[in-house]
Parts: sequence; structure tokens; C-alpha cells
Amino acid sequence: MLDFIYKRRSIRKYGPDPVSDELITEMLKAAMAAPSARNARPWEFIVVRDAETRRALSRLKQGARMAADAPVVIAVLGDRGNRWMEQDCAAATENLLLAAANLGLGAVWVGLRDEHDAPVRELLGVPEKYRAFCLVPVGYPAEEKEPRTQYEKAKVHWGRW
Ligand SMILES: Cc1cc2nc3c(=O)[nH]c(=O)nc-3n(C[C@H](O)[C@H](O)[C@H](O)COP(=O)(O)O)c2cc1C
Repeated sequence: MLDFIYKRRSIRKYGPDPVSDELITEMLKAAMAAPSARNARPWEFIVVRDAETRRALSRLKQGARMAADAPVVIAVLGDRGNRWMEQDCAAATENLLLAAANLGLGAVWVGLRDEHDAPVRELLGVPEKYRAFCLVPVGYPAEEKEPRTQYEKAKVHWGRW
């Protein structure tokens, strides 16, 4: 019943086919359908196709190497002035990933730490007001992963801890 959630897996290998603006826009519509504290929607998105820019993003850290191979990288940015920004951007990012999986695309959440903020903003021309939250490389999947939950009964505390 909830297969549309379980089929979202981190896809780190992509085929060479480009992803259309239409499909990327569908993903972004899903992202912006996310819940947002006081409905402030403190998120911004940059769709990066340029190969040189993607290569530079891929060099930010070990876990970002897929940015060089994916035909598109979506950068998620959040307004630093909003105290719920991280939570809102996380909800939007999960929706991006759920949309990708259900549109037949593969994607992965690449988390960014404090030290990545300035380099990402520099590369993408982002004003200081926004914090680089994460990167989402997207492409047609060149690896298959089983849909799954990782349900752990012991992590659920019914009533009280
Ligand atoms: C906040 C966050 C940061 C992540 N950062 C990375 C990353 O930098 N590189 C990467 O390859 N995967 C990254 N991931 C993906 C996780 O490794 C992945 O979700 C986890 O191994 C579970 O696998 P699944 O997504 O296929 O269910 C990140 C996930 C989250 C939620």
C-alpha cells in the first residue's frame, strides 16, 4: 500500500540520459508541497546542469562524488532567518526524493555541513541570507535497490519510553 514510500532508496549511479525540465519541475512541485512551520516556506532551489559546476560540487566531500555523474543536481537552500528552516528543508528534500523515485528517477540526499556553506554559495552565487542545506543529484537509475522499510519494533515506545 505504501510502496511509493518504500521504493525511495539512495541511488548513486546514473545513466547518461538527460532529465527533462518537466520532470525536475514535478519534483520541485512535490518539494513545495511539504509541510512548513507557519507556512513560511523558507526554501529555495537551484537546478544545476552545468558539468563544471557539478564537478566542483562533487569535490566538496567524499559523499558528494555522485554530483559529477548525475545529469542534474538540485541544491536546496534555506533562509537563515527562519528558525524552522532545517526542518522545513528536510521535509521538502524528502518530498523531492519521493517524487524522483515515483517518476522513475534515481536521487540521493547529500548532506552539507557548516564548512560547505560558503563554497556552495560561492559556486552557485547564493546570497549570504541563505544557507546551503543539501544537494540532490538526480538521474535515470543505473542501479536497482529493493523497496523496503527498516521498521524496528524496539524503537517504538507505545505510551511512554
Ligand atoms: C541528512 C542526510 C545526509 C546524507 N548525506 C549523504 C551523503 O553525503 N552522501 C551519500 O551518498 N548519502 C547520503 N545520505 C543518504 C544515506 O546514506 C541513506 O539515506 C542511508 O544509507 C539509507 O539508505 P536509503 O536512502 O537507500 O534508504 C544522507 C542522508 C541524510 C538523511
